[in-house]
Amino acid sequence: MSADRRLRPCSKVRGNLSVPGDKSISHRALMLAAVARGTSRIAGLAPGEDVRSTRRLLERAGTVLRDEDEALVVEGRGWRTLDQDDPASVLELDCGNSGTTARLMMGLLAGRRGRFRLAGDRSLSLRPMGRVRKPLAAFGAVIEGGDTLPLTVVGGGLRGAVVSTGVASAQVKSALILAALQAEGASEVREARLTRDHSERMLRAMGAPLQRLDTQGCHHRVGGGCPALSPLSLVVPGDPSSAACAAALAASLPGSDLVVEGLCLNPTRLGFYRLLRRMGAEIDEEITSDAAEPMGRLAIRGGELQGIEVGPDDVVDAIDEIPLLACVAALSEGETVIRGAAELRRKESDRIATTVALLRAFGADVEEADDGMLIGGGARLKGARVSAHGDHRIAMCAAFLAAHADGESLLEEPGWVAISYPRFFADLERIRA
Ligand code: S3P
Repeated sequence: MSADRRLRPCSKVRGNLSVPGDKSISHRALMLAAVARGTSRIAGLAPGEDVRSTRRLLERAGTVLRDEDEALVVEGRGWRTLDQDDPASVLELDCGNSGTTARLMMGLLAGRRGRFRLAGDRSLSLRPMGRVRKPLAAFGAVIEGGDTLPLTVVGGGLRGAVVSTGVASAQVKSALILAALQAEGASEVREARLTRDHSERMLRAMGAPLQRLDTQGCHHRVGGGCPALSPLSLVVPGDPSSAACAAALAASLPGSDLVVEGLCLNPTRLGFYRLLRRMGAEIDEEITSDAAEPMGRLAIRGGELQGIEVGPDDVVDAIDEIPLLACVAALSEGETVIRGAAELRRKESDRIATTVALLRAFGADVEEADDGMLIGGGARLKGARVSAHGDHRIAMCAAFLAAHADGESLLEEPGWVAISYPRFFADLERIRA
């Protein structure tokens, strides 16, 4: 995919950093703007390949989009934007590497007129889709295929239903809500633990009939036959998952002082930062604006960190950063135990296996469990030659570990970072003190 990259050790990081727009919010903004009625303007969209996959797919399905002065303009024609003129012919849609594209589009297209064949790259074609297909069947959705892509959505004719997400997954929840909005009659959508709630926030801001039935926000009544959504005017806040590697370096390299600005501070996305604090990191949070999503800055200072116990309740809000947390743990004092994280095995790579392989390559002491890891702290890391394993987040973990190692490291396939954060290495260079 790209030439190997040399990674040098780093003694501290300093300065101010703005990271690219949030990936989860960007996917949703594109999809919902496409089916809103009117002209939406989205600035600060995530620049990575995953969000490009969503953009390409929507264009192919008939959405009119154009770049205009740093923003993306989307001309929505209401829900029917995605309806196909010839419902009998199959529209081929490529989701690339993006699970969010595939899963949310399953829910959205289930209500549209047409036959839509969703496919993905090798990694996405291994990831479970039955978790969306099965509960969507309760609405009468017809999705041909098995547990993995490719799948063909035969859209239309949805009816309201009472459904629960079997796994804690914002992608599954979002797909169910998108289907419920297009169904005839009201629905209820419930999840056992609150996952990232960007869909609910954005839909409410666009006027969707979405009513909370509990205090935590895990249970919703969704009105069916949803009238056209209002268009969006949005600046996408920075992605806390993209900021995580720089923040982890700042927290773990004594003498570091880093401010990350313009960041999405939605609590359902800050689990990693709460875990870092539990390890002893000094992190101050300041919310500077609070529209549909709270946004602001995090100030992180370096110091000594201690190992912690991470359980199922900690994992949901930190799911994409657990591999990085394991890397921080290797450098902290004492042991860290991570449990209840079996979902990691179903991401872009088996992130328990790939994180363990990465940590071992750098000389850390780690034991693999079915649903997590046991990490001995206080490691002295040595430079290593490692692979990104086709996974953007593993590539970023390698950069973190290499910064802490004695001597130079070599990362194979560093280009995978472009899935979410194309300028990742350049930004790390800029904050190196
Ligand atoms: C995402 C939800 C999470 C996360 C993924 C993005 C989203 O996946 O890991 O990177 O945008 O809804 P799951 O829904 O599979 O937990």
